[in-house]
Amino acid sequence: MFGGQPPLWKFMDSIRSEGLQQGEEALSCPEEGLPRPSDSSELVQDCLQQFKVTVAQLQQIQASLLGSMEQALRGQASPVPAVRMLPTYVGSTPHGTEQGDFVVLELGATGASLRVLWVTLTGIEGHRVEPRSQEFVIPQDVMLGTGQQLFDFAAHCLSEFLDAQPVSKQGLQLGFSFSFPCHQTGLDRSTLISWTKGFRCSGVEGQDVVQLLRDAIQRQGAYNIDVVAVVNDTVGTMMGCELGARPCEVGLVVDTGTNVCYMEEARDVAVLDEDRGRVCVSVEWGSFSDDGALGPVLTTFDHTLDHESLNPGAQRFEKMIGGLYLGELVRLVLAHLTRRGVLFRGCPSPALLSQGSVLLEHVAEMEDPSAGAARVHAILQDLGLSPEASDVELVQRVCAAVCTRAAQLCAAALAAVLSRLQHSREQQTLQVAVATGGRVCERHPRFCSILQGTVMLLAPECDVSFIPSADGGGRGVAMVTAVAARLAAHRRLLEETLAPFRLNHDQLAAVQAQMREAMAKGLRGEASSLRMLPTYVRATPDGSERGDFLALDLGGTNFRVLLVRVTTCVQITSQIYSIPESVAQGSGQQLFDHIVDCIVDFQQKQGLSGQSLPLGFTFSFPCKQLGLDQGILLNWTKGFNASDCEGQDVVSLLREAITRRQAVELNVVAIVNDTVGTMMSCGYEDPRCEIGLIVGTGTNACYMEELRNVAGVPGDSGHMCINMEWGAFGDDGSLDTLSTCFDASVDQASINPGKQRFEKMISGMYLGEIVRHILLHLTSLGVLFRGQQTQRLQTRDIFKTKFLSEIESDSLALRQVRAILEDLGLPLTSDDTLMVLEVCQAVSQRAAQLCGAGVAAVAEKIRENRGLEELAVSVGVDGTLYKLHPHFSSLVAATVRELAPRCAVTFLQSEDGSGKGAALVTAVACRLAQSTRV
Ligand code: G6P
Ligand code: BGC
Ligand code: BGC
Repeated sequence: MFGGQPPLWKFMDSIRSEGLQQGEEALSCPEEGLPRPSDSSELVQDCLQQFKVTVAQLQQIQASLLGSMEQALRGQASPVPAVRMLPTYVGSTPHGTEQGDFVVLELGATGASLRVLWVTLTGIEGHRVEPRSQEFVIPQDVMLGTGQQLFDFAAHCLSEFLDAQPVSKQGLQLGFSFSFPCHQTGLDRSTLISWTKGFRCSGVEGQDVVQLLRDAIQRQGAYNIDVVAVVNDTVGTMMGCELGARPCEVGLVVDTGTNVCYMEEARDVAVLDEDRGRVCVSVEWGSFSDDGALGPVLTTFDHTLDHESLNPGAQRFEKMIGGLYLGELVRLVLAHLTRRGVLFRGCPSPALLSQGSVLLEHVAEMEDPSAGAARVHAILQDLGLSPEASDVELVQRVCAAVCTRAAQLCAAALAAVLSRLQHSREQQTLQVAVATGGRVCERHPRFCSILQGTVMLLAPECDVSFIPSADGGGRGVAMVTAVAARLAAHRRLLEETLAPFRLNHDQLAAVQAQMREAMAKGLRGEASSLRMLPTYVRATPDGSERGDFLALDLGGTNFRVLLVRVTTCVQITSQIYSIPESVAQGSGQQLFDHIVDCIVDFQQKQGLSGQSLPLGFTFSFPCKQLGLDQGILLNWTKGFNASDCEGQDVVSLLREAITRRQAVELNVVAIVNDTVGTMMSCGYEDPRCEIGLIVGTGTNACYMEELRNVAGVPGDSGHMCINMEWGAFGDDGSLDTLSTCFDASVDQASINPGKQRFEKMISGMYLGEIVRHILLHLTSLGVLFRGQQTQRLQTRDIFKTKFLSEIESDSLALRQVRAILEDLGLPLTSDDTLMVLEVCQAVSQRAAQLCGAGVAAVAEKIRENRGLEELAVSVGVDGTLYKLHPHFSSLVAATVRELAPRCAVTFLQSEDGSGKGAALVTAVACRLAQSTRV
């Protein structure tokens, strides 16, 4: 019933050959000296008592195993952890959408047999196709022979099985279920650590078993088979579990041997060096042998069994639970009781004294209450014994004692795993399904019920359902194989999609060079996508400026009115006002009236009414300046679109609004771009700050250029700050080779198609939209969200750029990332979460690198202007994306180092916004005006 009996016992053969001699002594039936009935019941009592385990002992085992598991997860080497905790590279539980035909080869789960299956996955829930399978008995000489013999045998069985199937010889995908402790280094790479359960083929330990199988299949030469995945039987059991209401995240096997696997947080598995997602870990609890915990429950029979096994001292826990050992434990107890005259009137049989003669199937049958005394009698007779009625009853009690203990120990270990899960998930009540497999679980009459009852007792806070695996885990292995094949295909598609976002050095250097060319042309007044606008700011502050100034700051996330007091230091009082979209996109008059209303409100609140302070206006849009206080709006950007403003002098529009609102008097001294405001603000602290950079809603840069290079502004000496308006870089088509179809979609849907192409690849207003378009594409390919398009994802601007910053934050656990995405109504799996993260990373990395290429072009320009070998320069930076994104700033800096190695560029973040800079520009202007008046 359970296949061939393996050559499990090292002395078995010798006992069989020398059986007579050994047996002779033991076989002599003592006529005299049998114990009296009262003695015998004491003897029985003593013997069975040894198999009793108290709840306290079970709890101690549970705690001790949990400790060993956590120690092994942390990668702690000393003391050597009692369990291995081997990562399996299975990172997700099945979708239910897996489909295809797979060959499965199972080795090591079921005694001395090997199974080949043909599994068809339909991809439709509830629709199952029964697998076809064939079992092959592994000859004893193969089990103890060379590795090559074993794998050649496996390849031979594969061919024999496939010959009988109506299948093609090409392109078959195989999942290899190999149920021994292995170090996996990938889904298809697995090194055997040590044999267990009666296998001992030479030359396999320390080798990659997938490679050994591939070599053997190749030697066989009959079929072209791709070994896609290798799994432990526990993993196959977990993965084959029917999709139910709760996730099946534990796989338990009690067969010839025993083991468990479960889904662990990858960040807690030290050897993986991975901080995201989950990974299935094979506990390999068979090797658990903590002396402190197991010592009190080990019986003299356990010691004898271990001593006589193929691997003394190893797999001590397995030897109390695994099906390979239960029969032997029963035999040792029966032989002992017989020797003491309590059973079979003291007469053993040669079989009773031979290792391995009592099989798991015997124990299961004899313990089964429905089997009846006659069946037990028959089994004992087959073992050459002459049982009486009392013998039958006692043998049943022995079987029950051995199996009950096995189920209880197994439960204590499972409770440890559940505690671990509960702890790592930080859940009060853990709801989980455990898939169970193996012949002890499946066919032993009471094992599962004792197991379940004891688990409830030991882990009352866990709500566990047990789901028996339908077909010995073969389906699960096919699932892993399908998942492995699907993941590989999805990864290829993801990589293909993201490849255009991954810019190499040459591409970035080309962007830098194009930028330099466009700068030069713009400065000369030739056609260029870079306007290179003179700002009439000629000097950074020198510290002698004094006075109170008003400042306005329009064009970023917030509209602000500020009072800036410049003494020996700068003091700022400010208030944020909202600009409703209807105003930003209404009429110019409305917009400027609204601005003046805000100023009046601010003045009233600050007690400034009636005072005519000098005012600096940060206006963060492209303006052609004809002087410090004159700026003609060239075009709106960033979602502003108020009518009748383009082509107008913004300062005049503001003054007209002031006049309309007769109650105020304002003295508008300067109009300043936010890049300039930022540069000036940082320049107040650091005189080397000669570049201003904004990466926020929009993006732009300014820098101090030699006046002689600036066409259209008189004068040959000194400097002038140039507002590059680099957001428009590439509007002449020069960036088209880098632009992806996603950039095109974002551009097309914007209010200014064809405009601000560089900005649309970099700034906060657009990155979320780029990500959204990529996600839509990956969903249409079936790579994400199981191919289901959601209404939410179709909604424009649903994916805010701040999500990129949040999602990419190192301090967030993946589950928090998932929560952000779930808030968007996206139906996520953990693979999806990782992929979305990768998409965000690719998009923001490209943005930062493009920005870095721009800064490198500017720094190099300044260095060359000044004929310097090396330049040390600072960049004043502002903008929500730059400031909030966890990696943006360091990526920009790294790119600048790479592309402008002769420039030492320091980045200074502006803390006070560019309003302070606008006030400083105003202060400088007032100082200069005063000094000319004097
Ligand atoms: C600074 C300025 C704003 C500017 C902003 C850019 O703080 O004061 O005028 O536009 O940075 O950042 P944002 O992310 O708000 O667009
Ligand atoms: C092996 C495990 C396996 C278990 C159940 C143990 O001997 O070491 O890898 O999962 O048996 O088959
Ligand atoms: C504007 C620039 C501004 C930048 C950053 C762009 O859209 O055209 O003038 O500096 O955004 O706010």
